[in-house]
Amino acid sequence: MTAPRQIRNVALIGFMGCGKSTVGQALARRLKFEFVDTDRLIEEQAGCSIAEIFARDGEPAFRARERQVIEALAGRARLVIATGGGVGACPELLESLKAHALVVWLWASPDTIWERVRHQTHRPLLQVPDPPARIRELLAAREPVYRRADVLVNVEGRAQRQIVSQIAAEFRRARRRAGP
Ligand code: S3P
Repeated sequence: MTAPRQIRNVALIGFMGCGKSTVGQALARRLKFEFVDTDRLIEEQAGCSIAEIFARDGEPAFRARERQVIEALAGRARLVIATGGGVGACPELLESLKAHALVVWLWASPDTIWERVRHQTHRPLLQVPDPPARIRELLAAREPVYRRADVLVNVEGRAQRQIVSQIAAEFRRARRRAGP
């Protein structure tokens, strides 16, 4: 018999630009949970921006920090966790989140993602000659991992209030089903 899931937190996963941080903050207010953003935790611990970590130490060093920050959340409760898009590149991180959180995938199409991020410059992975192609390529590679989330939420053309209500309802339902 498998042990019942422990669901103390909500983790938002999904590609860059899908609204994990803005939805996460509103969801945390709704649930009266603490909001944490793993990218901000990484920056606080490193004392510099993500772009600087990538430029100075390279992507593998960033991924090691990301893993350490996400794994350190395992003992916490009443958190809404906004993750970086890179969870989709690492099935172990997704499983680590599932050990304590309801994992919610925020989905938007590659075109919508590009519209949302095209005027931003802080994402090193998109500083390439053809960002829309990069988005399609990374999204295709990561989808099999994102797909393992507990809940899929399409954010295309939907008001933040609706998205937050849907996730809050899913969380309450999952908590009723889960163990104490
Ligand atoms: C990344 C996404 C970013 C940030 C880093 C790498 C990725 O976070 O962690 O630039 O690999 O998709 P957001 O998804 O919050 O933009």
